[in-house]
Amino acid sequence: MRLTKKHRSLETINQISFGSELKNDAIAEYTMANSRLKNIKGDSYYGKVAKNYEDKRRQQAWWWVEQEQMEELLSMLPRGLKVLDVPFGTGRFVNYYHDHGYTVFGLDASDDIMMAAQTSLGDQYDRCTTVRGYSTKLPFDDKAFDLVVSTRFLRDIICYADTKKTIREFARVCKSYAILQLGFRVDGPYEFPADDERMGSRMSRRQVLALLKRSGFEEVESRKVKVLDGGNAEIHHFLLRQTST
Ligand SMILES: C[S@@+](CC[C@H](N)C(=O)[O-])C[C@H]1O[C@@H](n2cnc3c(N)ncnc32)[C@H](O)[C@@H]1O
Repeated sequence: MRLTKKHRSLETINQISFGSELKNDAIAEYTMANSRLKNIKGDSYYGKVAKNYEDKRRQQAWWWVEQEQMEELLSMLPRGLKVLDVPFGTGRFVNYYHDHGYTVFGLDASDDIMMAAQTSLGDQYDRCTTVRGYSTKLPFDDKAFDLVVSTRFLRDIICYADTKKTIREFARVCKSYAILQLGFRVDGPYEFPADDERMGSRMSRRQVLALLKRSGFEEVESRKVKVLDGGNAEIHHFLLRQTST
């Protein structure tokens, strides 16, 4: 296989981080994820987009609602957890994690965005373990984390087939809790996305919870972070408990 620039940089990183068997898996996953990325935003967080990611998002009112709601949900959980944040992005919740005495792991497909995280977080970044990889094949053991967090991802960055696969991966590596950002439609008609589309906010709340339940997650509570479509759709942070212990 002829390796592109991105493949080559992925290869180098995985040589350092995981050794050759996992490296080959990661390249295969990269290729598969990319072939499903038509009309999906996942593979665009490089260069300037990565560098300016947080400055732009900080101008959105709902960024701050997400921050506030995340802080409140985290304060309901025990201290000292081991957390995995996917995709890590600019590490927007890292200061909350450290305030709660967490050990922090982050995974993201883009090393450019993790460099942006390093710039904005400084010393706090050095206390995190960051890994480049894909949400659909997490390089971690079963039940390796007490908490898995995922925002601005499952509903609009990857395609629905990968969203379902990712939720199963989250449930596999999660021992106790997850906080996942997902959307739903308030009134019908409801619709299941095709596997190669984004999930969006078309399913009902009950359908979203049923999807989570099939992977072993049940709702503890949820917090609204954004209203869409004139009030007919909502994005929530769902605090979930892992039930398949
Ligand atoms: C909109 S940002 C969200 C970042 C962060 N969670 C937040 O709330 O700001 C989407 C991120 O997903 C990452 N990404 C895209 N596809 C991915 C995949 N398959 N696995 C892991 N990360 C992925 C991108 O590199 C980018 O950093």
